[in-house]
Amino acid sequence: MDNKKRILNIKIITLFPNFIENFVEGFGIVKRAIKLKLLKISSVDLRKFGLGQRQVVDGRPYGGGVGMVLRADVIKKAIELAQKIKNQKPKIKIRTILLTPQGKPFKQIDAVRLAKYDHLVFVCGRYEGFDERVRSFVDEEISIGDYVLMGGELPALVISEAVMRLRPGVLGKDESSVGESFSEAMLEYPQYTKPEILEIKDLKLKNKKIKVPKVLLTGHHKNIEEWRREEALKRTKKRRPELLN
Ligand code: ADE
Repeated sequence: MDNKKRILNIKIITLFPNFIENFVEGFGIVKRAIKLKLLKISSVDLRKFGLGQRQVVDGRPYGGGVGMVLRADVIKKAIELAQKIKNQKPKIKIRTILLTPQGKPFKQIDAVRLAKYDHLVFVCGRYEGFDERVRSFVDEEISIGDYVLMGGELPALVISEAVMRLRPGVLGKDESSVGESFSEAMLEYPQYTKPEILEIKDLKLKNKKIKVPKVLLTGHHKNIEEWRREEALKRTKKRRPELLN
């Protein structure tokens, strides 16, 4: 990615804007990124696009069945609004993503790929489902794992967080997200801090004094680097061997 610090605009289309309120308002690193104008994140309330006085957003499924289905026309209007941003630059790269357990499994390489866009629009379904035609309004469908949640709100936040930390400037130092865990297809090496010797008063534990590995106390950068690489490899082989293929 180029090193120019640009703003990432994230819009999350949801029936439950309250659900993602805390995240959108920002805390910690997210708050800092918003302040530094590296990030803008907001919800788009799907209800506002509902039909009639009752702002209807769903309907009974054709052919019968239980539950209600989100209407494609309502979602389309919300997407069109979410894709527009004020003072939009002409060549801005937008990606519109539908969250669904039927989507492509989300991986770190997808976070890297999505971090190249300046505007991400997430469309959150709810558990009852959405009209099939919604699929034709989006660029891609993503699942965050083989389990079924009640809606796409948490998946949208998961992906937003994975993407935003890769944007230049968000983590403070541009390098800080590089060389970590899955980015390098390896798990991270073990880390330690004070105290050097941890005394545990637990009779069940054989080792009552747990020490920091000696090499880390030597100040010998080359050896430390080598040790970390070996530990990362060992750990990956043991816990996630498929990452090494
Ligand atoms: N909506 C419900 N479950 C989901 C999942 N696992 N990934 C993405 N969106 C979802």
